[in-house]
Amino acid sequence: MISAMDNENAVRPSSPVAVADALSRFTELWSPRVIGRVNDYDVRVAKVQGDYVWHSHADTDEFFLVVDGLLSIDLREDGHERTIQLKPGEIYVVPAGIEHRPSSRHATSILMFERSGTLTTGNYAGPIPDHIDSTVGHSL
Ligand code: NI
Repeated sequence: MISAMDNENAVRPSSPVAVADALSRFTELWSPRVIGRVNDYDVRVAKVQGDYVWHSHADTDEFFLVVDGLLSIDLREDGHERTIQLKPGEIYVVPAGIEHRPSSRHATSILMFERSGTLTTGNYAGPIPDHIDSTVGHSL
């Protein structure tokens, strides 16, 4: 598999990474950049706006931290649907196997911990909308 993950130097940088600087270096929405790695987890940053697609990750939790803006996450748990909202500085972990749909009305920046190789769209099997990137993350 050829991907950003093959470039260990890119995901294990030898000097500090400023999150704001990393976010300023790309403009694509829903297209995470890998800025570090913790054991077998990527540290990813992304710019988001609009609706993502409903999906789940069978084998891994997904950590979200809002850097700037406001992130909504729709959740389907035990037959119920609810929406949580994250403000800057707030975190939430979507447990493995829980269906979720992130969305944001306005331009929002997020940081995520995702097990390396995790596909952003998880188990989603429909057509990928044009405004979404289905990826395991890109290097900066
Ligand atoms: Ni997800």
